[in-house]
Amino acid sequence: MKKLGPVNALYPMPCTLVGAIVEGRPNFITVAHVGILNSGKPQYLSIGLNKAHYTNAGIKANGAFSICLPPESLIVETDYCGIVSGKTKDKASLFDVFYGTLETAPMIRQCPVCMECSLDRILNFESHDIFIGQLVETYAEDSVLTEGAIDISKVKPLLFDMASRKYFSLGQSLGNCWSIGKGLKR
Ligand SMILES: Cc1cc2nc3c(=O)[nH]c(=O)nc-3n(C[C@H](O)[C@H](O)[C@H](O)COP(=O)(O)O)c2cc1C
Repeated sequence: MKKLGPVNALYPMPCTLVGAIVEGRPNFITVAHVGILNSGKPQYLSIGLNKAHYTNAGIKANGAFSICLPPESLIVETDYCGIVSGKTKDKASLFDVFYGTLETAPMIRQCPVCMECSLDRILNFESHDIFIGQLVETYAEDSVLTEGAIDISKVKPLLFDMASRKYFSLGQSLGNCWSIGKGLKR
């Protein structure tokens, strides 16, 4: 094994479009550094945003943000939202924007799954704000549900890899979790 230094190798990650109201207008930023902090209720999710971004002030001001899952078909729009800043461009005009329970977490109708989060706390790292949100509501298109649950093969999420700086698609299911390993139990 070759030592690479402290290279973060936790990829791929799902690409998300995070929505917030900034200076009174909806804005969307592409975010791959998302985290699941627990499993249960309440459910907490994190996003790591560089402090230079336009979005941060809006999340702080309104205490809310959304996390939407763009499908493969939104690859161009998703990349664009990760290249240009809401400081200079109206990125929300690319999408049909809707609001849910929180009313200050803009979401995207073209994303088959959107989650709205109420800001719980901020971890203040040197270069990044880590926003921890409590998941308040999840919205999913009927077309991506199988027996009422989100079917990831229907969502067709965009996956992001830092090493190659490329987008990937989801592969095939390989087996059932908490099940396929049972064969090794004695
Ligand atoms: C695929 C991709 C993933 C990204 N992930 C993150 C991320 O996790 N955190 C972050 O701070 N910026 C990330 N960015 C960069 C921001 O999306 C980008 O700087 C954006 O223009 C900032 O928008 P804003 O100024 O409107 O907030 C990513 C960009 C791309 C293309």
